[in-house]
Amino acid sequence: MDVFYDSESVLLCADPVKKAQDCIGLYTRWLDMNAATRQQAIIDSGRSVVRVLDAPGRPDKPSLVAAKNLPRRGLGTAAGRIALVHSLAHIEFNAINLALDALYRFRDMPVRYVEDWLRVASDEGEHFLLLHGRLAELGSHYGALDAHDGLWDMARRTDHDILVRMALVPRILEARGLDVAPPMIEKLLQLGDHETATILRRIYTDEITHVEVGNRWFRHVCEARSLDGTAVFRDLLRGENSAYLRSPYNHAARLQAGFNEQELALIKEMEADYKASTMKN
Ligand SMILES: [Fe+2]
Repeated sequence: MDVFYDSESVLLCADPVKKAQDCIGLYTRWLDMNAATRQQAIIDSGRSVVRVLDAPGRPDKPSLVAAKNLPRRGLGTAAGRIALVHSLAHIEFNAINLALDALYRFRDMPVRYVEDWLRVASDEGEHFLLLHGRLAELGSHYGALDAHDGLWDMARRTDHDILVRMALVPRILEARGLDVAPPMIEKLLQLGDHETATILRRIYTDEITHVEVGNRWFRHVCEARSLDGTAVFRDLLRGENSAYLRSPYNHAARLQAGFNEQELALIKEMEADYKASTMKN
């Protein structure tokens, strides 16, 4: 196995179902290797060139549009339910790319870093396939609707530094999933959509561990560079990056995912500062 080369191939694969299946395959192959072979796979593979990727491999459809141009639909109708599952499938498709890119782009990290992100990519592949299957049950498919174009932006904006990537992608963007999932699951259950709710519950449980992976490696890099994590986080959240902060926060799930009380207080403070500054302007 050539870890980085193989990850790049999956990252560039444009067929979403194949991409999802290949992620699961990559992690299965990794688990079949012993510790020495894994270490060797990283050393051999680490010599290959890291490409700047403007975009990962993705299908022609869905068409990508600005989030504000996506129609808002309530969950009460069949069309609304399909729109929700479609948007979640799109998020999972992007999550596959983000996990693969995290391990592909940032080399010289411990074996456990590679293993963590291979596992995350495999989970995201499973999530995508579950939602893909649910869309078929609802009489639709991934690509039937438009999707928003913002998700890869953060990958491009953070591809120069693993510290910035870990701080802003798993700890800000992905952590947001922990806040929104429980009320969404509740709503689906009230509407009697147990099938979608069951999938979302599975995704939610996995996502807590994914945010935890981001937290672990953020702290690892801070320690390696002798930086104070909370101060770095505050610096990175100054200005536009705070636009991604949106209360209410799922305090318990965030603690479980490895945030500490100080950071959770900081997130609230930065959100309030950002709101105050945008009201002034
Ligand atoms: Fe996911």
